[in-house]
Amino acid sequence: MLNVLVTGGAGYIGSHVCVALLEAGHQVTVVDNLCNSSARSMDAVQSVTGRTLNFTQMDIRDTTGLVSVMQARSVDVVIHLAGLKAVGESVQSPLAYYSNNVGGTLSLLHAMEATGARRLIFSSSATVYGVPDFLPYTETHPTRPSSPYGHSKLHAERMLRDLCHSSGDWSIVALRYFNPVGAHASAELGEDPRGTPNNLMPFIAQVAAGLRDRLTIFGDDYATRDGTCVRDYLHVMDLASGHLEALSYSATAAGFHAFNLGTGQGTSVRELLAAFEATNRVRVPHEIGPRRAGDIDAFWADPARAVIHLGWKPRHDLADMCESTWRWQLAHPRGFQ
Ligand code: NAD
Ligand code: UD1
Repeated sequence: MLNVLVTGGAGYIGSHVCVALLEAGHQVTVVDNLCNSSARSMDAVQSVTGRTLNFTQMDIRDTTGLVSVMQARSVDVVIHLAGLKAVGESVQSPLAYYSNNVGGTLSLLHAMEATGARRLIFSSSATVYGVPDFLPYTETHPTRPSSPYGHSKLHAERMLRDLCHSSGDWSIVALRYFNPVGAHASAELGEDPRGTPNNLMPFIAQVAAGLRDRLTIFGDDYATRDGTCVRDYLHVMDLASGHLEALSYSATAAGFHAFNLGTGQGTSVRELLAAFEATNRVRVPHEIGPRRAGDIDAFWADPARAVIHLGWKPRHDLADMCESTWRWQLAHPRGFQ
């Protein structure tokens, strides 16, 4: 049993990670400033697991506050998800992204240094790779992010690498997530975007539920099999289980290690739409619109490194991703509000 600090644990991925941690018998402490989430997700985590966690509303840039929480809870290991994640917003407000994602990570590392915690699992992103030289992306693919968001993730990874070079005491795993979708099987937890969803799956779910008129497919003239962009969608509970595997790995592997977490399967926008309609027997009205600035034709993961070294294996297929999203949407049309 570990005492785990989860930063950003009230958010979409963090809340599912908390479920996996509690079910594995760990003690969980969450620090989140709730800038993009609701404390009700913490109630839902406790209700579906039947276990309690400790929640503190706090900004991770408050290093002194973090130190006192970590000391009070005897934190051994940190899973660091707190951060901002909207690509377009990062272009408008780059300083907010560098402050939260780079400054926030720096503050957390100072708190870890002060309290003696030396194991960290970091939420990175496939966006660090940028326009592909080859596919699938392996972890050795060049990193050339194209947005302040992507750069903030890469800067954070750079700090983590440098820290591991400075001392052999640190054990740090960066998980480069592909496209997490889906919801917990209970339908009590899921993605709860504020305002208009940026991402495809929650948008599809809101159209199917009649909350929005139609989906606009951002371009059908890409160099892909049906002209729409291809991505690697991954069930959020498979992503959560990847964090448990990374925790075990970090117990013995000193230094900095990066792993892709994706299924290795590319799915186009049209294919995801068709899967959602077929699985849930619903109609999703849609139209073709212009391309979205900055979108890449296609990318997907080579997950071999995570499979071999972490012993991780995604278990859920596209139908599970669509079905769980839909059940969460029906049960909670307004998310946690
Ligand atoms: P989310 O917005 O639902 O969760 C992030 C959480 O961090 C939120 O609860 C937010 O309130 C909190 N937070 C943000 N800044 C904070 C700060 N300064 N102090 C304390 N709390 C803060 O997003 P998510 O989808 O769950 O993403 C979690 C992590 O995974 C993020 O770091 C994101 O960049 C990364 N990631 C997400 C995706 C994705 O598609 N969702 C893909 C790749 C990587
Ligand atoms: C986005 C982020 C990326 C992040 C990833 C996972 C951008 C440019 N990139 O990527 O940094 O790592 O999410 O969270 O925002 N689509 C539509 N209509 C919609 C919404 C999306 O056609 O209303 C299309 C997009 O053009 C894209 C695909 O669906 O081709 C998936 O979009 P999205 O869910 O936003 O993920 P990414 O573009 O992969």
